[in-house]
Amino acid sequence: MSRIVLDGISKSYSGIPAVRDFNLIVDERKFLTLLGPSGCGKTTTLRLIAGLEEPDAGEISIGDRVLYSREKGVFVPPEKRGLGLIFQSYALWPHMTVRKNISLALEQKRLPKAEIRKKVGEVLEKVQLAEYVDRFPSELSGGQQQRVAVARMIAAEPVIFLMDEPLSNLDAMLRVDMRAELKHLHHELEATTVYVTHDQVEALTLSDRIAVMDRGELRQVGTPEEIYKKPEDLFVARFVGSPRINTLEGRLISVNGRTHFQSGQLEVIVDRPPRQGSGKVIATVRPEDISISKEKKDGWPRLCVYSVLPAGSETIIAVQRDDLSLTVKVNGFTDIRMDDNVWIDLSAESINFYNPETEALLTPE
Ligand SMILES: Nc1ncnc2c1ncn2[C@@H]1O[C@H](COP(=O)(O)OP(=O)(O)OP(=O)(O)O)[C@@H](O)[C@H]1O
Ligand SMILES: [Mg+2]
Repeated sequence: MSRIVLDGISKSYSGIPAVRDFNLIVDERKFLTLLGPSGCGKTTTLRLIAGLEEPDAGEISIGDRVLYSREKGVFVPPEKRGLGLIFQSYALWPHMTVRKNISLALEQKRLPKAEIRKKVGEVLEKVQLAEYVDRFPSELSGGQQQRVAVARMIAAEPVIFLMDEPLSNLDAMLRVDMRAELKHLHHELEATTVYVTHDQVEALTLSDRIAVMDRGELRQVGTPEEIYKKPEDLFVARFVGSPRINTLEGRLISVNGRTHFQSGQLEVIVDRPPRQGSGKVIATVRPEDISISKEKKDGWPRLCVYSVLPAGSETIIAVQRDDLSLTVKVNGFTDIRMDDNVWIDLSAESINFYNPETEALLTPE
């Protein structure tokens, strides 16, 4: 059993909380990502699971084994937790070759020499570094060192993987390749994984579930689809998705028995209005959920194109009029040009509404 449970975990440094009353379950064989901005407590959480830091309160268990409990006075040291770790700064042994760095743990397990050799070859193949086996870490780039750290972790076959930004030093192309490798690896090995990143694309692409953190607190835990489509607060909505989600201040009003959302000249009929019914709200809509037309369309407001940013597979268009500014994403290239007049429509079913004071999602009736 390798289900990880964090129950009421807190950790402060010199009286300043880094992680606050954290409750999190990582189900066996699942890939969970801790996602959040710099300083929100991701590394601290991972180090608490690893046993490299001791919490101030709460309980941590893996399967039916309690690793830490303030109440019961339990603290299992890191080397007895059976976890594989990759740190943000990938500590390789500088005086050892790549082969030795990887084989060390296997030698300690007393695996036969031939098996170790085969294993080292296999894991280096996976991270595309087979020909670097006899180099020293100082002879490798930062990205290559990071991949050796990944290979070393895989080789040791731990039941649980803990990874702290393992792809942060890779160039964009290699990062995409390594994402696929990590995802396939998890599919193959099914090791329960806690992965740390501040990169929302990485979180969306790799995870079974994502835990979004802000200033030491959990904001939302959910599948990538839940996090993307139904963010529970505006922080999560804004943090996840690129280009950033559109937010519109406005009001819910009742027109002929139906609820409309109105923001300046923009008015949309709401399919499933929030329970609160009327009043001030903040609406969000993703850039890809807005339709844009160069021809006038009845009922669609007219706006002016501020910028057009083609990126091959997609084009990002910024449109505005008076107080209203929106980002729109279309597939491929477009014949829309800067300063053009355009007409837009928001897809009603993809709009979410938030309480402007608490910034919490308003649930539909
Ligand atoms: N050893 C320490 N002593 C004092 N404060 C610390 C220590 N480690 C972390 N902190 C503080 O705790 C908070 C959380 O730090 P943490 O390293 O967990 O953030 P993070 O989410 O991993 O950020 P990043 O994305 O930049 O790596 C920060 O405010 C940090 O300054
Ligand atoms: Mg960190």
